Amino acid sequence: MQEILVKIVDVHKTYHPEAGPVEVLRGANLNVCSGQSVAIIGPSGCGKSTLLNLIAGLHKPDRGRIEINGQNLIEMSDKEMENFRATKIGIVFQHHHLLMQCTAIENVLLPTLPLSMNTKEAFNRASELLERVGLSSRAHHFPSQLSGGEQHRVAIARALINHPTLLLADEPTGFLEPSMGKEIVKLLASNRDYTLITVTHADYVAGAMDATFSLEGGKINALNHK
Ligand SMILES: Nc1ncnc2c1ncn2[C@@H]1O[C@H](COP(=O)(O)OP(=O)(O)O)[C@@H](O)[C@H]1O
Ligand SMILES: [Mg+2]
Repeated sequence: MQEILVKIVDVHKTYHPEAGPVEVLRGANLNVCSGQSVAIIGPSGCGKSTLLNLIAGLHKPDRGRIEINGQNLIEMSDKEMENFRATKIGIVFQHHHLLMQCTAIENVLLPTLPLSMNTKEAFNRASELLERVGLSSRAHHFPSQLSGGEQHRVAIARALINHPTLLLADEPTGFLEPSMGKEIVKLLASNRDYTLITVTHADYVAGAMDATFSLEGGKINALNHK
């Protein structure tokens, strides 16, 4: 039996905008084993980004527990969480958030800045990752000189630079046409040395993952296990 890397127990989250509360998660539970790839599927507005941001420790749940590798995120100080995220978690955001004034390779190198990675080692790792995502020849191009799919691939390389244990991907195929989306998903799911959790509204993403869950009514339900 494989060990559990991510454990979500009875997680609740409600937003409180002026117009009235929005109850998003209502007792969500999920176990993700080390090395597994998982898709969580649900329509727009069901709480996918909320869930991913909680797993990333970017926000805190109102109730419940989120453990990664046995560590309860809620008990960590902001500084501890920041350090944990920098060293253990890679995030591919839906709107990739590349810095437009930096080249592709500079964007990939950004997460290494707070860590004490040797400069040459970091540069070699960044070059390797750009090669892996098929962008060796575009390393010194700016994001504005790359297509949407290429920018996405730079964001994937950036999320992997610090050797994360856990990769979180929010709608990795969001604005891409299905053929490009499928390529991106293949890239995320194949040759992995990380555990992968992706949230998406695109059904076809599920096919590339080991297990699929739905997020509905604030709860997570198992759909399919390979
Ligand atoms: N900061 C916020 N304040 C108030 N409501 C929010 C906030 N963030 C998200 N929501 C609401 O919570 C619900 C879930 O949002 P989200 O997690 O972004 O869904 P998804 O990623 O599945 O589209 C939506 O109804 C959204 O409008
Ligand atoms: Mg979202």
